[in-house]
Amino acid sequence: MKFDDIPGWFYPIDQAGFAWTLEFQNRTAPPGDLLELGSFKGKSAILMGQKLRPGERFTVCDLFEDLAAWDGSHQTERDFFGTKSLTRKAFEDNYRAFHAELPQIVQGPTGTICAHVAPASCRFVHIDASHVYDNVREDTASARVLLQENGVVVFDDFRKPETLGTAAAVWEAILNEGLKPVFATDAKLYATWGEVAPLQQEIIRCAKASDWARTGAPVMIRDMPLVRLLRKGR
Ligand SMILES: C[S@@+](CC[C@H](N)C(=O)[O-])C[C@H]1O[C@@H](n2cnc3c(N)ncnc32)[C@H](O)[C@@H]1O
Repeated sequence: MKFDDIPGWFYPIDQAGFAWTLEFQNRTAPPGDLLELGSFKGKSAILMGQKLRPGERFTVCDLFEDLAAWDGSHQTERDFFGTKSLTRKAFEDNYRAFHAELPQIVQGPTGTICAHVAPASCRFVHIDASHVYDNVREDTASARVLLQENGVVVFDDFRKPETLGTAAAVWEAILNEGLKPVFATDAKLYATWGEVAPLQQEIIRCAKASDWARTGAPVMIRDMPLVRLLRKGR
């Protein structure tokens, strides 16, 4: 099985954003665990698992086939995933095609994640489960509790017209709750409650060193510089 054959919404620019962020942490950050909220068929999880260092734990949380029956789910999300043959087995089969060991799998609503992952234990959290405002708010609050100092949180679909709940939750955390944006692609926003400059400089360096990506001039959000990461020619 080839990585590109796995269905999902994890595009090359974010594959680079994840790889460059995790590799930078691998060189500069103390040990820390990885967490994904919303894994679908495993595309982003497989890449995250490739960057795990010995002794670190990777946890994924997804309802998989239980999404349809979960009373907190939104009709639009039930309709959307109801057509996608989403099962835990599909995730596990795909993951096993690339890794000898599965991550810790929490099959349940992301709102339960703090019962399974220790506070301040994570260096990287990917929030890509429900895109409903209340759920993203809850996932953001969990990420804040679970991230270690200078840990990075990534939000999927922070700017699509179909996912305004995510947009509202992300900007609320940035404008009112001390979350600082680091860089953004068309699909995802990368942020931290810790230091911004070291990772931002690294992303600018990695894009420059590549022959296919670039960064835009920083956009100021109040006093916070936010860098765009995009393909060359755009
Ligand atoms: C957009 S997909 C994740 C895509 C995946 N990260 C990738 O890159 O391929 C969203 C996933 O979140 C799960 N999900 C949605 N709401 C959830 C919730 N409240 N708790 C747990 N999982 C949820 C769905 O079952 C689905 O698998």
